[in-house]
Amino acid sequence: HPHIARQGDALQVEGLPLAALAQEHGTPLFVYSKQWMLDALAAYQRGFEGRDAMVCYAIKANSSLGVLRVFAEAGCGFDIVSGGELARVLAAGADPAKVIFSGVGKTRAEMRQALAAGIGCFNVESEAELDVLNAVALEEGRTAAVSIRINPNVDPKTHPYISTGLKGNKFGVAHDRAVAIYLHAASLKGLKVVGIDCHIGSQITDASPYLEALERVLDLVEAIEKAGVPLHHLDFGGGLGIDYNGDTPPAADALWQQLLARLDARGFGRRRLIVEPGRSLVGNAGVCVTEVLYLKPGEEKNFCIVDAAMNDLPRPAMYQAFHQIVPVTRRAGEAATYDVVGPVCESGDWIGRDRALRVESGDLLAVLSAGAYCMAMASNYNTRGRAAEVLVSGTQATLIRRRESIDDQLASERFND
Ligand code: LLP
Repeated sequence: HPHIARQGDALQVEGLPLAALAQEHGTPLFVYSKQWMLDALAAYQRGFEGRDAMVCYAIKANSSLGVLRVFAEAGCGFDIVSGGELARVLAAGADPAKVIFSGVGKTRAEMRQALAAGIGCFNVESEAELDVLNAVALEEGRTAAVSIRINPNVDPKTHPYISTGLKGNKFGVAHDRAVAIYLHAASLKGLKVVGIDCHIGSQITDASPYLEALERVLDLVEAIEKAGVPLHHLDFGGGLGIDYNGDTPPAADALWQQLLARLDARGFGRRRLIVEPGRSLVGNAGVCVTEVLYLKPGEEKNFCIVDAAMNDLPRPAMYQAFHQIVPVTRRAGEAATYDVVGPVCESGDWIGRDRALRVESGDLLAVLSAGAYCMAMASNYNTRGRAAEVLVSGTQATLIRRRESIDDQLASERFND
C-alpha cells in the first residue's frame, strides 16, 4: 500500500507512525490517509478525462465531515440517501447542484429539505415515490429533477446482502416497466426527467457485471428516447470493489476505459455520465488501530481480545467480511493462531478468525481496509462510545472526530418520572 506502509517495524499512515497517533488519541482509533482518497478519486478522473462526467461520492461509506471536506474541496459531487446525509454534505461545503439523492424510502420531509437546498437530482426508485415527489414539488412551487433507478437484473457475484440489481431486490424499478414509468414521469408537472440510473451491488471485483448492466441500460435508454422522453444523463451507480484479502478488482480508470469503449460504440460516449462510488474512494485509505487487552488460550481456540468490537467494525459480524489484521509494531518470534474478538457480549463479535499473530497484551493491532462502512456503521451497542478519527496528510494529523463520551450518549435520554 502506497500511503500505509512500514518504516522498519513500525506501521505508518503517510508520514506518521500509528503508535504515536494511538498514544495521543487512544484506541480504538480510525486513521485515514488523505492522499490515498485523492489518489482513488484521481483514478476515476483519469478514466473520465475529456468526458462530461461527474463523480458523486456515496457518503454512506464514510460520512465524517472531515472526509467529506476532502472530496468537496476536490470538486466532487455527492450521492446521499437521507436528510441527515444532505445536512452533512452541505455542512462540508458541497455544491448542492452536484448532490444526487438515492434510496427507496425518501420521506416527504426529506424531499422538501432537498428541494429547498436545490439538489441536482432525485434518483427515484418506485412509481409510488414518483407521485409523492411530484405532489411535494407542486406544493413547494418547485420542479424536481428526476432520474429513475432501473433494476437491470444482473448478478454482481458479490455477497447477497450487498447485491442490489437482481429481480428479487427491493431496489429500482423493473426493466420491463421502465418505458411506461418514464412516460408517466414525463407527464407529471412537478417533475423534470433528466436521467436514468442503476446500481447493481457493492464490492464488485469483476468488470463483466458492469458491462452487462451497461448494455441493458443502454437498450432502455434507446427505448425511452424512442418513446419521446430525452435523457440528459446516465448514472451507473457505485459498487467497484477494493482489495481486502488479495482481491483484484479492476482499477477505476481501467474499468471506465472498457465501459466508455462500449458507450462510444453505441453512440452514447458524449452523454453526461455520473458515478456513485463509495467504498473504492475511501475503503483502503483507512485503518482501525486497536489495543490487545487479553490473550486467552483455549482448548479449541486461542482468543486475542482487543478493545475494538462489532460496534466499531460491524462488517465481519454482518457479512463474514475479511479484514487484514497486522501488528502496528512488528515483534520477533513465533506467531500463534488467534481469533481476534472484541469485548461485546455476542459470539458474533469477532474481527478476524484463525489469524497468525505474534502479539502480547498491550500491543497495538491495525485492522486494514477500514475506511469504508466501518465508522459509518458504528453503533453504541453495549453503551460503547464511538471511536475517534484522525485524518493524516503528510506529517500533519487532524482529529476529525473526537471520541464519543458517555455524556454524549446520555444527553438525549430522560427518566420516565
Ligand atoms: N449508490 C447506491 C445507490 C448505493 O446503494 C451504494 C451502496 C453506492 C452507490 C455505493 O456503493 P459502493 O461504491 O460503496 O460499493 N455496508 C456494506 C455495503 C453496502 C452498500 C450499500 N449501497 C458493506 O460494508 O460491505
